[in-house]
Amino acid sequence: MKVIKVNLKENSYNIYIGYNITRKIPFILKQLSLKDTAIIITSYRIYSLYKNHIKHALNGLKYIIIKVPDGEAAKSKKWLFKIMDQIVKVDSWNKKVFIVCLGGGTVGDLGGFVASVYKRGVPYVQIPTTLLSQIDASIGGKTAINLKEAKNILGTFYQPKAVFIDPLFLTTLNRKQIKEGIAEAIKYGIIKRKDLFYFLRDNHKEIMDLRNPYLLKLISTCAEIKAKIVERDEKERKGIRTILNFGHTLAHALEASSGYKNISHGEAVSLGMLYAAKLSCFLGKCKKEDVEEIIKNIKIFRLPTKIPSNYITIYKAMGYDKKFTSESIRMVLLRGIGKVTVSGKIYLKDIKNILKKKNCC
Ligand SMILES: NC(=O)c1ccc[n+]([C@@H]2O[C@H](COP(=O)([O-])OP(=O)(O)OC[C@H]3O[C@@H](n4cnc5c(N)ncnc54)[C@H](O)[C@@H]3O)[C@@H](O)[C@H]2O)c1
Ligand SMILES: [Zn+2]
Repeated sequence: MKVIKVNLKENSYNIYIGYNITRKIPFILKQLSLKDTAIIITSYRIYSLYKNHIKHALNGLKYIIIKVPDGEAAKSKKWLFKIMDQIVKVDSWNKKVFIVCLGGGTVGDLGGFVASVYKRGVPYVQIPTTLLSQIDASIGGKTAINLKEAKNILGTFYQPKAVFIDPLFLTTLNRKQIKEGIAEAIKYGIIKRKDLFYFLRDNHKEIMDLRNPYLLKLISTCAEIKAKIVERDEKERKGIRTILNFGHTLAHALEASSGYKNISHGEAVSLGMLYAAKLSCFLGKCKKEDVEEIIKNIKIFRLPTKIPSNYITIYKAMGYDKKFTSESIRMVLLRGIGKVTVSGKIYLKDIKNILKKKNCC
């Protein structure tokens, strides 16, 4: 088992990574003094796949299970309050509850948000079950739900007490779901680690087949990168954590403008990164060859490269981004593979141009 510590003073916690670590969860929870009633938030699909596994793994714990829909539909006002209503029924003056998020990034974001607002904060742990949530969403304490107008518009910074990453969960993902995680891994390569960027390209077959040691190396490297960035800027106040949003301005707009239905987060990130790179080239921040390198990585994993819908709707959805001022936006731009910069004044007319143009550079 590999343990990565996220150093955040009183909010510090460990990320435990290893095959079959789920068995060790009850023991670690006891060490963390999380011994009261666990509220397990999971999705219908995860429950149907893993109900016996959950029973075995959490043997000896007191728990209840709350099931939510699979995918973005769970990150909604409706499910937030449905969950609250169920928790309040089992909670009482002599009990303490803590939350276990067992699922993909949607379950993790929703469960973390519930934990942060219920009684002004109860403890929670993450057990991510998709590649995307294992390498990204479960780490760093960003929690959120969506409104129809905008993605992640209700959210908090609230760190978990522990993250348990068991790659065994990934064996039931299909190839599309694996690729969605790869999009965020490509992002880490672009923003911080050239070696990771080329590791992904050179070993794409082994990674897609979830072969070891490639998979464990990928998960650990990404988890370490995220932990280090979060440690330096827990609440995104210093502009350091902002680089994790590379490709996400357009990605979130694409997701919202499609009603969270026709495009997954990972696919949207793939397109968002490509367009952020093209914009960077258009603004003279990086070379045309850098954009081409990104296109190669995106294509080798057969991630999308073409924006599916009307650019006007997408452009409108971008208006809800918290980084927007009246006529300009703050965006993460590409300098080269492994290097990005945060630019405070990207003019909307330039974004419009890139969205309209098929080939900018
Ligand atoms: N908080 C953060 O820092 C952060 C970072 C990145 C992404 N996110 C959020 O994460 C979400 C995307 O997460 P995701 O890609 O995990 O999507 P997801 O949670 O929607 O999961 C994708 C699909 O995989 C299924 N699934 C999950 N685990 C499975 C398993 N082991 N076997 C078979 N099927 C399984 C789910 O039921 C779902 O249908 C987005 O809402 C995004 O905004 C958050
Ligand atoms: Zn993301």
